Amino acid sequence: MRKPIVAGNWKMHKNIPEAIELANGIKRGVLDLHNLDIVLCPPFTALSAVYDIIADSNIQLGAQDVYWQEQGAFTGEISVGMLKDVGCRFVIVGHSERRQYFFETNETVNRKIKSVLRANIIPILCVGETLPQREENKTLEIIKEQVFGGLKDIPAAEAEKIVIAYEPVWAIGTGRNATPVQAEEVQKYIRNLLSEMYNTSIAEAVRIQYGGSVKADNIEELINQPNIDGALVGGASLKEDSFTQIIKVCAKGEN
Ligand code: PGA
Repeated sequence: MRKPIVAGNWKMHKNIPEAIELANGIKRGVLDLHNLDIVLCPPFTALSAVYDIIADSNIQLGAQDVYWQEQGAFTGEISVGMLKDVGCRFVIVGHSERRQYFFETNETVNRKIKSVLRANIIPILCVGETLPQREENKTLEIIKEQVFGGLKDIPAAEAEKIVIAYEPVWAIGTGRNATPVQAEEVQKYIRNLLSEMYNTSIAEAVRIQYGGSVKADNIEELINQPNIDGALVGGASLKEDSFTQIIKVCAKGEN
């Protein structure tokens, strides 16, 4: 049985006082839920402040990106060591916005994942097709390139720890989520790819989240799919009520 994992990707939202308020609200709302992983990914500037609030709770800290070098003359970048410093246990890697606006490739994603694993942090590897790719029936081909490329040369023992987030680009921030059937089809395919790359026990162990317009009123039908093990939530993670509601639905039956 895979432990569900729900992560809130705050993107470039919330200054420090706002982040503190939101983290406090979520903490109060999910106090009694223990059999799932709850992760908050605020912007870099609020990581430390949020860590102080959640350090003694059932919520863990994640970052939204990282650079693969340990240190050096890389102006503007943040290393895994720095993320560990502020208490991060998770980091999102290869989000479609990074791929789209900041020229992230499967190769840079792979480098990042390797450095994150070396530091014993859990990467959340994001994959997903654009709308034109889906319309041209290229979804599975793109997903295969992203999964194989992102996990290239990563040994089985390490791969097992990774979380994968399937996020169709056309569903992100659009209010148009993938249907449970669409999401399940791709997520089952990702598990089959893991089985091909490694073996069935690794494939069965890896948690695969769905992301893209997840809301309190659509999470239930998504999480009920056999290969959906949680959610990566953007917009709905910025409000205490909707995010705690999503977490509670994912925790149902687990406590
Ligand atoms: P959304 O974003 O929930 O606002 O669609 C999801 C994401 O980008 O991770």
